[in-house]
Amino acid sequence: KLPQYNTIDDVARLLQQSKNVMVITGAGISTSLGIPDFRSKNTGFYSKLIDAGIYEPEEVFDIERFDEDPSIFYRLAHGILPDETRHSPTHAFIRLLQDKGKLQTNYTQNIDNLEERAGIEPARLIQCHGSFATASCRKCKHQVKGTEIFPYIRAQQVATCKQCSAALAAAAPPPKKKKKAKHNFDTDSDENSDDDNIPTAGVMKPDITFFGEQLPNTFFDRLAETDAKSVDLVLVIGTSLKVAPVSEIPNYLPHHVPHVYISREPIEHVNFDVQLLGQCDEVVWELCRRAGWELRHEMIPEG
Ligand code: OAD
Repeated sequence: KLPQYNTIDDVARLLQQSKNVMVITGAGISTSLGIPDFRSKNTGFYSKLIDAGIYEPEEVFDIERFDEDPSIFYRLAHGILPDETRHSPTHAFIRLLQDKGKLQTNYTQNIDNLEERAGIEPARLIQCHGSFATASCRKCKHQVKGTEIFPYIRAQQVATCKQCSAALAAAAPPPKKKKKAKHNFDTDSDENSDDDNIPTAGVMKPDITFFGEQLPNTFFDRLAETDAKSVDLVLVIGTSLKVAPVSEIPNYLPHHVPHVYISREPIEHVNFDVQLLGQCDEVVWELCRRAGWELRHEMIPEG
């Protein structure tokens, strides 16, 4: 019979005893910084989009829609652009697990890249849905720092690829002399068909994994080859677990691994040993206090 875990003290003890902790995170760990999550009623990014008349908000992150019309993403993405100068107490908690030598892997669905700011080692971090850290051209794959396209996202303008533009300018034939139209009435259509054939620069897309795109190979490799065999505690923090394949990780792990859920709302579609409900920053702070650990962070009131 497997041991039972029910209380916050049980979880504090598990933290003390565990050696290889997997932490699965979602947008809820960044909301205390003012970055909205996706699915919270009224405050989530998707509910704001619905209010704005976009009835299928997940389409903003759909790769086919992006390729058809990137202006939809560029018009709306400023609402989730990260301020990279701060991270939350929950990020600091994950860093504390790392400092104590207990962090096996942080699987984050977040694209704000704040784990890097918190000092989570790249070797312990899987950014399951990519991030805003870099952006790539849809045509030539040229990659730039994500911050290069931030001004376009803020200005709600589509960013195009500078490398494509330079190549096009270099290859451009000398301007053609305007042909004399044979008939007045087809002048317009001649000009239009010429325009349609003009090659254009590719569109830049942040290296976020859109719906319809593959997750990074490291996600599947690390999960199956290392983590599923060695993890001794899984903490799922601030995610609704609505998006596969991340939502499938808890059930993929062996049953003897204690499963703990920390979030504002209870979850029903995945089984957890313990659900600690509340603001995650407060829950992890209390867990640390009970484990006898000091969680240092500027947003935690002194004393
Ligand atoms: P969701 O918005 O679906 O879930 C966030 C969860 O965190 C909700 O259950 C909230 O109740 C909870 N929450 C919010 N603030 C909290 C706080 N301060 N303390 C505790 N809990 C809090 O966000 P994700 O699960 O991360 O994909 O969404 C998964 C993916 O869906 C995202 O990565 C995104 C989206 O489509 C892409 O960007 C490609």
